[in-house]
Amino acid sequence: MSKYIVNGGAPLKGEVDVSGSKNASVAIIPAVMLSDGVCRLENVPDISDTATELSILYDLGADIRMINRTTYEIDPRGIRFDIIPHEKTKVMRGSYYFIGAMLGRFGRAKVALPGGCNFGVRPIDQHIKGFEALGCDVTLEHGLINVETKGLLGAQVYLDVVSVGATMNIMLAACKARGLTVIENAAKEPHIVDLANFLNSMGADIMGAGTDVIKIRGVSSLHGASYSIIPDQIEAGTYMVAAAATGGDVLIKNVIPKHLESISTKLVEAGADITEYDEAIRVRRTGELRKINLKTMPHPGFPTDMQPQTVVMLSIAHGTSIVTESIFDNRFRYVEQLTSMGAKIQVDGKIAVVEGVKELKPAPVSATDLRAGAAMIIAGLITHGCTEIEDIHHIERGYDNLVEKFIGLGATIEMKKSQGIFIPKAQ
Ligand code: EPU
Repeated sequence: MSKYIVNGGAPLKGEVDVSGSKNASVAIIPAVMLSDGVCRLENVPDISDTATELSILYDLGADIRMINRTTYEIDPRGIRFDIIPHEKTKVMRGSYYFIGAMLGRFGRAKVALPGGCNFGVRPIDQHIKGFEALGCDVTLEHGLINVETKGLLGAQVYLDVVSVGATMNIMLAACKARGLTVIENAAKEPHIVDLANFLNSMGADIMGAGTDVIKIRGVSSLHGASYSIIPDQIEAGTYMVAAAATGGDVLIKNVIPKHLESISTKLVEAGADITEYDEAIRVRRTGELRKINLKTMPHPGFPTDMQPQTVVMLSIAHGTSIVTESIFDNRFRYVEQLTSMGAKIQVDGKIAVVEGVKELKPAPVSATDLRAGAAMIIAGLITHGCTEIEDIHHIERGYDNLVEKFIGLGATIEMKKSQGIFIPKAQ
């Protein structure tokens, strides 16, 4: 298996460009199948999650033209109904957006259960509740979610938990339903607004995205559109935290500073200096890192996807920080990796008590999931000596050129490719 070897100890310095948002792209790519014409998507991040989804569209019959590394023209007119198999869905979470998109296009969907990061149980009952409210029958057979309807009908859906996935999946189906759908207690993340903007640019009628009540008036058809995906809030936040953790000075470009406010606020509390520009943010730290208390919350709260990276930074801060994870049941699995590097962290359920130490020590660690993988790179960057990180495929699922971008900021990171083992075939 391939590994990253991070030779840390130096502050990050320089400028870095942020790519398009993963969590917007993984909903926008399936949304293309709702259109009756060609869609041009720009600023698509070059990550394995988007490659998987483009391959699903291709398998279904879409005509896909890559214009450059981040721009695609997709003609969905040749798409036929088919099962989306486990082999494709098991590697990522966002594959469940094909259910909403298939429903909008065909009135039925057969999609294998999604994979993605393991944070304990990740139910999709709120997605199902939404589809049923829109007039669908939902059954689960042999690991396939089978959804059928004689006609999507607009409905009132109250989400019992604020769910990004359920909000976007219901939006996808509802924009082709007859009548008005109202999603109450909807998620408000920037990618919800981005999906709504994309669908509206195709002729959908969606209002209120970014608030907790979203109204979708169904339309009979959607047309092709050209759309540029928003910058990735979490990728930007990862460089911000890495700059603060290493005592660096980094200008992070192609960002929407408003999306980063919860992260900026916490970094300032921890001792970083932040300067906001129109489309960039500069993070510097010269003084000592201070403890902070932190609780992850739905947007506009502090994002759960920034929790592991921030815990790494706090592991060398002065004082004891309390970090509460309120979104997922089990998002501290990576802490064991950090304690093997000398971090002093006690986890009790959804709370981590992080007692800052002077320094971390190199150790072989694993990327237990996507953001935990980025956190391990930051851990390597603040540690003198070589930190080896395994299971890096998780990182490649969701960060466009993360290692190359860190190298551009002065980091020393090498990729060690696995040699593979030759096993002779039995005669
Ligand atoms: N939940 C339910 N029922 C549902 C759906 C969610 O109980 O039907 C619960 C979840 O178990 C969780 C909470 O509601 O406790 C929030 O889950 P949500 O549905 O918002 O998360 P998600 O759609 O599974 C997306 C991102 C995650 C990100 C979360 C929260 C994608 C593909 N994934 O997941 O991204 O952490 O929203 O913002 O968009 C990542 O990028 O590293 C990542 C994990």
